[in-house]
Amino acid sequence: MSKTLTLSVDADGIALITIDLPGRPMNVLAPEFNADFAAAVEQVASDAAIKGAVVTSGKSSGFIAGADLKDLVNAYDAGITPTQAAQASQQISSLFRRMETCGKPFAAAINGVALGGGLELALACHWRVLSDEPSTQIGLPEVKVGLLPGGGGTQRLPRLIGIPSALPLLLQGKSMRPAEALKLGVVHAVAPTAELVQRAREWLLSKADNAAVQPWDRKNFRIPGGAGPMASHAPQTFVAGNALTSSMTQNNYPAPTAIMSCVFEGTQLPIDTGLRIESKYFGKLLAGPVARNMTRTLFVNKTAADKLSARPRDVPRGAVAKVGVLGAGLMGAGIAHVSAQAGIEVVLLDNTREQADNGKAGIAKMQAKTLAKGRTTQAKIDALLARITPTADYADLQGCDLIVEAVFEQRQIKADVTRKAEAVIPTTAVFGSNTSTLPITGLAQASSRPQQFIGLHFFSPVEKMPLVEIIVGEQTSQATIAKALDYIGQLKKTPIVVHDFPGFYTSRVFGTFVQEGQRMLLDGIAPALIENAAKAAGFPVGPLAVSDEVTLTLQQAIARQHDADGVPVQYRSQVGRAVVDKMVDELKRPGRRQGAGFYDYPADGSPKRLWPGLAQAFPLAPQQPGVDELKQRFLTIMALETARCVEDGVIDNAADADIGSILGIGFPPWTGGTLSYIDTLGAERFVAQCQALAAVHGPRFTPSPWLLARAASGTRFYPPVSAAA
Ligand code: NAI
Repeated sequence: MSKTLTLSVDADGIALITIDLPGRPMNVLAPEFNADFAAAVEQVASDAAIKGAVVTSGKSSGFIAGADLKDLVNAYDAGITPTQAAQASQQISSLFRRMETCGKPFAAAINGVALGGGLELALACHWRVLSDEPSTQIGLPEVKVGLLPGGGGTQRLPRLIGIPSALPLLLQGKSMRPAEALKLGVVHAVAPTAELVQRAREWLLSKADNAAVQPWDRKNFRIPGGAGPMASHAPQTFVAGNALTSSMTQNNYPAPTAIMSCVFEGTQLPIDTGLRIESKYFGKLLAGPVARNMTRTLFVNKTAADKLSARPRDVPRGAVAKVGVLGAGLMGAGIAHVSAQAGIEVVLLDNTREQADNGKAGIAKMQAKTLAKGRTTQAKIDALLARITPTADYADLQGCDLIVEAVFEQRQIKADVTRKAEAVIPTTAVFGSNTSTLPITGLAQASSRPQQFIGLHFFSPVEKMPLVEIIVGEQTSQATIAKALDYIGQLKKTPIVVHDFPGFYTSRVFGTFVQEGQRMLLDGIAPALIENAAKAAGFPVGPLAVSDEVTLTLQQAIARQHDADGVPVQYRSQVGRAVVDKMVDELKRPGRRQGAGFYDYPADGSPKRLWPGLAQAFPLAPQQPGVDELKQRFLTIMALETARCVEDGVIDNAADADIGSILGIGFPPWTGGTLSYIDTLGAERFVAQCQALAAVHGPRFTPSPWLLARAASGTRFYPPVSAAA
């Protein structure tokens, strides 16, 4: 008997193949499974007593999650070539092709999540019934990690549901819930999980001989919506795809273009040729750096962070039952909201009861919008709101096992609320500050229990942003780190752990992006060019727009605080200051909230426009640089600042640095993060790039002796995995 699946045949001659990979929480298309599955298919094909087969999973966690992405990263690091990667894809494709052409019908009983290769296996079955559990998701998410579905997904999905419906699913990697999958025709039926196998059996038994032939292997097959035997390829068929591709790729992401090519080329040809075309494109992607970097950071390492891999192992796990949030403003209300959503009791405290009530009312408003979209129920909202107690009375904080402080960014105020809260909360409680800039060790001086004091840096808007930066102060204990991580785990957010420093990790690196954009203004570069260059590099917004969002007043306040604290000059914005002071003090344009910053924000709600007055305030240079030069400045200054953070001991884990740069501060995902960017270029080439920029733009680009030494010795941030891995 095989290890990864079982095969049994009932009295009606229906085989039941139950996939259950030992030692894994989820089924994946691991090499050992592929071999077992190939043998099972041959058994069904050759045993005359078997009429057809049901394929299902023995795991309650779902059907098949796809390929094991760790294997892909290892393969890349071991130097896999495009040809070898294409061969691996061809092997899977041949296996699925054998299943669909072996003369016996296969029906997939999809009992939960089926992603990537899992859905591709199901698509190669002749019939599919999907669990009607609302949590069930199926889809082809490969594009999100820089890949394409290499097990027939780009060929079968368009042939099944038509090119216009298939392209968005392939290009955006969105998953479908049962109702949508049924409506689109990706599955033939939905049913309760307990009835899936029976439904699949019934289908197999009720079918005549030609059930074992896929639509695309029949005579006169037409792709849905297509005019001819293959796809019509009328220009409009690809319009939606083209729009999605160009807005997403900006030349940085090869996967969407490769997917378009697979669909365009493959659907004009017989499926066997289409599958070979798909494997060829897959091979190129898998052997390229973008797929490796995205897979490693956004999947393998992010998953580990989500599972709290940074948690000190000798501290028992615990859950936060009651959290006190100090300050019911933008951040405090958001933190209260996500905590209540996670089932935690929340005491939301502000200066006055009215301010605390306002914070809660904002949460109710957001929930009402979610309800209007049909994504929650009134009962759930009622329960969530009942968990939030607004107050101005510190006595209500009694029994809180965690405090998150989110009052104004001023030391005295923070010290004052720390003392008042600590007088009430249990001596075992942890005190977390959501400060965005003030060093934690300094804030902990106000605490009588500095070992229980920690930074919990959320990002705005809290409801949407997945990252939380945990800042360890000089005296923060391991138990406190563990409790903070347990809390972030409860919120289902992604934690990174960093050490104390002005600006910690994310704010410090983010600052270099904003300041580089402001520096470009001083250089006389056209504002629209600055903004577009950042977006062309893959940042979600330009540095001037993002300056307006965080407000120039805040940047000015931080710069002044740094002056007052005597923060060493290399860690401060020298370049941006001239711009920020001018914008705030002279031009009275402090940011978006006031309707005027680098952009104008029309009161009628029409889209923001770059302020025409910028041309006078920052006169244009007669010669404008090319976009590529500006892109390089943004990417280099942020990567260099991250390397400095490693050198300074602010961050010691390359995975955390990369995750934080993408999820927290918008560094382009195609790079895999700031340190992956350096490793991919190679440290030697990176320092040469820095030196060339320093020669023109000044010492902020000068690599440190530490970095030069690493480059000389070829030291990487990620150790290369040996070929044996
Ligand atoms: P906010 O101004 O929206 O809210 C601050 C709230 O604290 C107000 O409701 C205020 O009434 C209350 N408050 C002030 N003094 C208080 C006291 N003594 N006792 C009780 N409540 C008091 O400010 P925001 O943006 O929510 O920021 C709060 C903290 O979060 C700051 O430390 C900020 O640096 C940090 N932060 C802000 C981010 C942002 O994007 N706005 C991102 C990450 C951190």
